[in-house]
Amino acid sequence: MQHATDEARPRHAAIILAAGRGERAGQADGPKQYRRVGGITVLERTLDVFLSHPRIGDVVVAIHADDEDLYHVATQRFAPRPSHVIGGATRQESTLAALRVIENDIHGVLIHDAARPFTDAAMIDRVLDAVEAGHGAVPALAVSDTLKKAQDGIVETTVPRAGLYAAQTPQGFPLATIRDAHEKAASEGRFDFTDDAAIAEWVGLPVRIVEGSPDNVKLTWARDIAMANDRLAGSNAFPDVRTGNGYDVHSFEPGDHVTLCGVAIPHDRKLNGHSDADVGLHALTDALLATCGEGDIGTHFPPSDPQWRGVASRIFVEEAVRIVRARGGRIANADVSLIAEAPKVGPHRDAMRAAMAAMLGVALDRVSVKATTNEKLGFIGRGEGIAAIATATVIYPGEVP
Ligand code: CTP
Ligand code: MG
Repeated sequence: MQHATDEARPRHAAIILAAGRGERAGQADGPKQYRRVGGITVLERTLDVFLSHPRIGDVVVAIHADDEDLYHVATQRFAPRPSHVIGGATRQESTLAALRVIENDIHGVLIHDAARPFTDAAMIDRVLDAVEAGHGAVPALAVSDTLKKAQDGIVETTVPRAGLYAAQTPQGFPLATIRDAHEKAASEGRFDFTDDAAIAEWVGLPVRIVEGSPDNVKLTWARDIAMANDRLAGSNAFPDVRTGNGYDVHSFEPGDHVTLCGVAIPHDRKLNGHSDADVGLHALTDALLATCGEGDIGTHFPPSDPQWRGVASRIFVEEAVRIVRARGGRIANADVSLIAEAPKVGPHRDAMRAAMAAMLGVALDRVSVKATTNEKLGFIGRGEGIAAIATATVIYPGEVP
C-alpha cells in the first residue's frame, strides 16, 4: 500500500547486469554471479541490497539465455520476484535490453554489475541524490597507487594521479537521457564504451563523482570470489533477525459470534471495531510491520476508511506479509496470545494456527496461538472485551551492521 509521502518522490529503477559468462573467474562451477559467497549466491546478495532499498521500485535483471534455471532458483525467495530480460553479447547490449523494458514514468535508473555484491544503501542514496539533481552519477574512489605508463615492461612515464578516479557501479542517470544515449550509441555501431557513464559523457550529460567504497569490489577472478567468501565467513556479522510485537483490544457488543485468528467462533456477543474486529490478526499485523519499521495497521488501513468496514482481517496480515517479503524478509515464527474470559479458545486453536500459517506462508510449527483468562480482573475479567498480544520474528537479508 502506498504511503501519502511516497507519491511526491520520484520513482527509480535498477538494472542488475548478470548476463556475462564470467570467463576470467573460470566456469567450472558455473557463471560467477550464481556462485555462493557466505552461503548465498552473488546475485542474491546484490539483489538484496537493491530490492530492500526504499527509493528503488522496479528491479530488472539482465540474464543469459542459458541461465534461466539458475536464475529461477536464485530468485525463488524474493516476493515479488524482480523482472528479467535476456541480455546481449556485451555488457553494453545487456544494458540496452534492460533499459528498453523500464517503464517511462521512472525518473532515474541505476545500472549495476551483479558481480559487485558489496555495494551498500548509503552509496545508492548518494547516486540517487545526484540523479534527482539532474546529473549522471558514478561512485568512484580516488586512485591512491602511483601510476606508471609502460611499454614492453619498461616505464615510459609516471602519470600524475591528481584528479584520477577508479569508477564503480551502481551508476545512475535520468532514465530518458541514458536510454536515448544507449540507443544512439547502438544505432551508430559504437560498442566500445567501457561503462555507462562513458556513454552519458559522450552525449554531454554532466556526470558527477560520488564517494564509492573500497568494499564495493567487482568479483572478476576466482581469487576474488574465494576472498569474498573468506571475508564473510570470518566476519563477526550477526544475521539480521528482528522481532516485532503487537497489541490490540476490542470491546464486546451484541452479536452471535467472534472472529479470532481467522476463525469464526459462535458466542453470545461479537467484537466491536472496524473490519471483522479480529484482535489476534490485528496484533499480528502490527508485529509483522514492526519488524521493518513500517508503522502499524492504522497507517496502512485507517479505521476511518469505510472500505475496511466488515472485511476479513486476513487481508491486513497478507498486506503486512507482502511488505515484509518485498524487503527480502523471511518469516521465522509468529505467536499470538489471546486474553479473554470467553469464548473458549482451546477447541479452535488448531484451526487458528492453520489459518495463520496459510496467511503467513509458513509451516504450521512456526505458528502458535495461546489463550489465557484474566482471572476475572479488570475489563477483560468483567467480560467487556478481548485483548491480544502478538510476536513475530523475521529474518532480513544481510547482517546487523
Ligand atoms: N555482463 C552482462 N552482459 C554481458 C557481459 C557482462 O550483463 N554480455 C555483466 C556481468 O554479468 C557482470 C557485469 O556485466 O555482472 C560486469 O562484467 P564482467 O565483470 O566483465 O563479467 P563477465 O563478463 O561475466 O566476466 P568475464 O569478462 O570474465 O567473462
Ligand atoms: Mg566481461
